[in-house]
Amino acid sequence: MSLLSVEGVSKEYHVRGKKVLALDSIDLAVAQGEFVTVVGPSGCGKSTLLNLIVGLLRSSSGRILFRGDPINGICTKIGYVTQKDNLLPWRTLIENVEIALEIRGIENSARRQRAQELIGQVGLSGFEDHYPHELSGGMRQRANIIRTLIYDPELILMDEPFGPLDAQTRVVLQDQLLKLWLASRKTIVFITHDLVEAITLADRVVLMTSRPGRIKSIENVTIPRPRNVFQIHERPEFRSAYERLWEQLRPEVNLAEA
Ligand SMILES: Nc1ncnc2c1ncn2[C@@H]1O[C@H](COP(=O)(O)OP(=O)(O)OP(=O)(O)O)[C@@H](O)[C@H]1O
Ligand SMILES: [Mg+2]
Repeated sequence: MSLLSVEGVSKEYHVRGKKVLALDSIDLAVAQGEFVTVVGPSGCGKSTLLNLIVGLLRSSSGRILFRGDPINGICTKIGYVTQKDNLLPWRTLIENVEIALEIRGIENSARRQRAQELIGQVGLSGFEDHYPHELSGGMRQRANIIRTLIYDPELILMDEPFGPLDAQTRVVLQDQLLKLWLASRKTIVFITHDLVEAITLADRVVLMTSRPGRIKSIENVTIPRPRNVFQIHERPEFRSAYERLWEQLRPEVNLAEA
């Protein structure tokens, strides 16, 4: 059984008497431990898809199953890393990271210890007592990711978490994310605009059409792990996957810009 299955899901928004079909008949099954990336042009419904999976929105048709059970309302077994970090400005880095454990009533020293471990794994040791405005964009995004990992969700959704960062920082964070993922083997659905990032991270890349978003193709990425994110683009398997995906994506991007 798939951990997540999206079956015939469509989503129509109603805006001031106008209907906007954002997603059309999406079918996607994600296995436990899989790393799936989703690429598609702006406005094709990628964030809508994640909002449906996590239960923030309801689909207009079709259904979404998590471990075989339909999603009805917010599902706490699913972690959601949003594009914009939602760190609380009045809490320090470590207080932001441990917040989910605090809400769950985990005792102070245990949650401190777990937060400290994760902070160390993403190279933020020494910054525990800094407030969000005293951190760089890359540091805030790392904190944003580990504050979701800390409560150990079975499925993690990520909406362009590295979007606003510069190219070098992105690659470093991709490397850290893959190491965290290899250690925990969580299931991840990761949205990105960037084809290179999509291939670098994924077991499978799902490519979407421009709006209304449909699945146009799915590419299996067979590059062995652990992957060297700094050199992966030199591999022939990478180049051929990139060419196939770009061929499919190009007309969608042009359409979206027209
Ligand atoms: N709350 C909403 N109400 C009405 N329409 C919406 C709402 N959210 C999104 N839409 C519309 O649905 C479509 C898909 O939006 P969505 O944010 O899911 O796209 P996206 O693929 O995440 O785009 P981007 O890559 O720019 O983040 C867009 O046309 C958008 O205008
Ligand atoms: Mg979006």
